[in-house]
Amino acid sequence: MKRKLIAGNWKMNGSLQANASLLQAILAGMGAAPACQVAVGVPALYLAQCHALLAGTAIDLAAQDVSAHEAGAYTGEVSAGMLKDFAVRFVIVGHSERRQYHGETDEIVACKAQRALASGITPIVCVGETLAEREAGRTDEVVKRQLAAVIHANGHCISEVVVAYEPVWAIGTGKTASPEQAQQVHAVLRAQLHAASEHSDRIHLLYGGSMNAANAAALLAQPDIDGGLIGGAALKPQDFLTIIAACA
Ligand code: PGA
Repeated sequence: MKRKLIAGNWKMNGSLQANASLLQAILAGMGAAPACQVAVGVPALYLAQCHALLAGTAIDLAAQDVSAHEAGAYTGEVSAGMLKDFAVRFVIVGHSERRQYHGETDEIVACKAQRALASGITPIVCVGETLAEREAGRTDEVVKRQLAAVIHANGHCISEVVVAYEPVWAIGTGKTASPEQAQQVHAVLRAQLHAASEHSDRIHLLYGGSMNAANAAALLAQPDIDGGLIGGAALKPQDFLTIIAACA
């Protein structure tokens, strides 16, 4: 069985001082051999700081976004090659906040995943339905459409991605999908990946959306949930450590 993956998504939170104390607390509590693979997704400006703080530790560095372009006149953007310079191991692409507030389409997300893979960085591709889509019975159709764009653009490389199912209605709301609801969608995504790649069993399928210290164990016990993408709880060292320990 593959090791689970717990990735923090700090979003637009932190400061030089807060990042240092958060990482120090997580590293001190985690020990050298955590129960799973661990990553933290930090704001781009702090990649250099966190790269230095995490060197030689068991925590991998993740970025929260990457440009769909390779280089050039794209003011404000950060390329996959630049992320690679700071030993970034994962990059979140297609987070619902980027889809919603920055107009990212399925095609842009697929292109970002491609850029990451071309630089040897694992994209964490986020998919998920809104509350209105769930209530209209469209959950499977929406997540399959979002994932299909990434499969289409990335061909056999699809086995190198991580997929995060993040129901939009569960993000930052305190409303978690029940383990059964999450498992149901994960099984749909797993089947889609299986049809696309003979190596699909390697792919980590993460759940994200109000995962916390209290509900992590039940979610992580589901057969197709291979880890979590953690927002709010990743900023609280004790909670993040409890979620990591729930992978044991
Ligand atoms: P949350 O965020 O855990 O705060 O709901 C998860 C995410 O947006 O990745």
